[in-house]
Amino acid sequence: GDKYLTFNNGQKMPLIGVGTWQASDEEIETAIDAALEAGYRHIDTAPVYGNEPAIGRVLKRWLDAGKVKREELFIVTKLPPISNRPHEVEPTIKKSLADLQLDYVDLYLIHTPFTLNINEDGSFKVDAEGLLEVDPTTNHAAIWVEMEKLVEKGLAKSIGVSNFSKDQVARLLKNCKIRPANNQIEHHVYLQQRDLVDFCKAENVSVTAYSPLGSKGIAAFNAGAGIVRDLPDLMDIPEVKEIAAAHGKSPAQVLLRWIIDTGLCAIPKSTNPARLKQNLDVFDFKLSDEEVAKLLALDKNIRVCDFAFFHGVERHPEFTFKNQYTK
Ligand code: A2P
Repeated sequence: GDKYLTFNNGQKMPLIGVGTWQASDEEIETAIDAALEAGYRHIDTAPVYGNEPAIGRVLKRWLDAGKVKREELFIVTKLPPISNRPHEVEPTIKKSLADLQLDYVDLYLIHTPFTLNINEDGSFKVDAEGLLEVDPTTNHAAIWVEMEKLVEKGLAKSIGVSNFSKDQVARLLKNCKIRPANNQIEHHVYLQQRDLVDFCKAENVSVTAYSPLGSKGIAAFNAGAGIVRDLPDLMDIPEVKEIAAAHGKSPAQVLLRWIIDTGLCAIPKSTNPARLKQNLDVFDFKLSDEEVAKLLALDKNIRVCDFAFFHGVERHPEFTFKNQYTK
């Protein structure tokens, strides 16, 4: 039906998934429980979010109780930036699978195009200036060979990338046996990245929009890293509110419906049961071409999740984010 997007390999991904970044360990079990109860079957996580074990406990309860079948779930996790090396791919997915208490994930993504170095105790390596040490040897094609083996071994149904630029996706497409099924990127009305999105669509690489609601929660995360930034409130944009009123829907629902109407998936994060329900309740209306155009015109190239909290990462040869903050 129209609640799914079909990958280049035929696999189906639910158009709306639940995002889990910035959900604390205490709240995540309740939130995932509420999400499954509300009807979510697509869950997006990553080792970086620190919540795979908690998500695994909830999934195990639901699977053991027969409340959901494994094949109904669509679980996404990612190869973290500290493990972005060929020999770490298989052990890293195996750790995720153990934490998630699953035999396979539906989609495994390279989390970032860049690689961070760590000390033996797991802390980030920093230089004399306090900037994070990056690994200049990152080779996406070599990592991808190992990602492809995960599909052959049945550990991941599909493989893809995240935070990849158009050039990075294009380079990978020239050097792969299995084409990436998905690129997960920040995407919302203020950061549309049309060039990248249109390229991916033309190449049959599906796109998942993270921070589809503008990720207001990132303010607290930024503050923790000593970063003070004005963040836009997407749910307060007059055009968004106007369209919402016209449909009797919330601004959040309009932001999500716009993503679906333009052919992408979205993974809004919420830990609140009412908002979780609301974010999944976007299949009973459609935006007019005029409304879609109005929202397309809002693009401002404002990146909310710009990785500034990885101090110094812009020195990485594969770092490509250019936005209102980086030079
Ligand atoms: P909460 O978890 O308390 O619901 P994004 O998905 O872009 O990262 O945005 C997530 C942020 O938006 C979180 O702060 C989340 O808070 C909030 N949020 C999620 N859904 C809604 C909604 N339907 N209405 C208003 N705020 C929402």
